Amino acid sequence: MNPMAVQCRDLHKTFGVGEDAVKVLRGVDFTVPRGEMTFLVGPSGCGKTTLLSVIAGLLNPTGGDLEVLGVPLASLRGGTAVEFRRKNLGFVFQQFNLLPALTAAENAAVPLLAAGWKRKAAVEKAESVLADLGLASRCRAMPNQLSGGQQQRVAFARALIHEPHLIVCDEPTSALDAETGHHVMELLRQAAVRPERAVLVVTHDSRIFPFADRIAHMNDGRVEKIETQSGGPTC
Ligand SMILES: Nc1ncnc2c1ncn2[C@@H]1O[C@H](COP(=O)(O)OP(=O)(O)OP(=O)(O)O)[C@@H](O)[C@H]1O
Ligand SMILES: [Mg+2]
Repeated sequence: MNPMAVQCRDLHKTFGVGEDAVKVLRGVDFTVPRGEMTFLVGPSGCGKTTLLSVIAGLLNPTGGDLEVLGVPLASLRGGTAVEFRRKNLGFVFQQFNLLPALTAAENAAVPLLAAGWKRKAAVEKAESVLADLGLASRCRAMPNQLSGGQQQRVAFARALIHEPHLIVCDEPTSALDAETGHHVMELLRQAAVRPERAVLVVTHDSRIFPFADRIAHMNDGRVEKIETQSGGPTC
């Protein structure tokens, strides 16, 4: 097994062409080891969400090499790429992207339903994951009946439920109070500290920095420095 969940070499992403071209990723060299939690930090507009989206296969890079879980993403086409993402990746976005017509439990169950689970079993599993996140009593609520923090926890449940090997999160605690943020990061750590798994978190929230095993600092389209938290997380 490749010890790196993500390997980027000289990764580039440019939006637009000609005079309108915006060079957002300008040669990113970056690795995310398995069995750890890696944070990606840096000033607004430096390219964090863009890098996360490229790593997650939601945007195509314009140059460079990218391997995710040992697979060169450029080698995957169409349906194979979708299948790879569905099986191996979990996402938490700042905008929770919940489906408004589904209950909390049904939203959390989506990855299992997509993998062919029977509805009843998928929803039961979703209810147990939501209970772990403190939402046992809200399983049947619709997204518009939930607070921002509750919606974010449903998004966490959806990201974790199929036990993906790479979980990517963009500002996952921005809608959460300190205590709930701490709790969901603990859950993420439990998911991450397995030899085969990795979590990559983009965040501005310095309250959760102690959860990181390493912190990658991004600036102006490049990863400039990687800091390893000596002695491991203190939380
Ligand atoms: N589709 C797009 N077309 C053109 N420019 C884009 C596009 N998406 C992002 N950008 C630009 O790329 C730059 C980096 O954006 P990105 O969202 O990756 O930043 P970020 O580091 O996540 O910032 P923040 O911390 O504010 O979320 C910004 O200048 C943004 O305007
Ligand atoms: Mg962003």
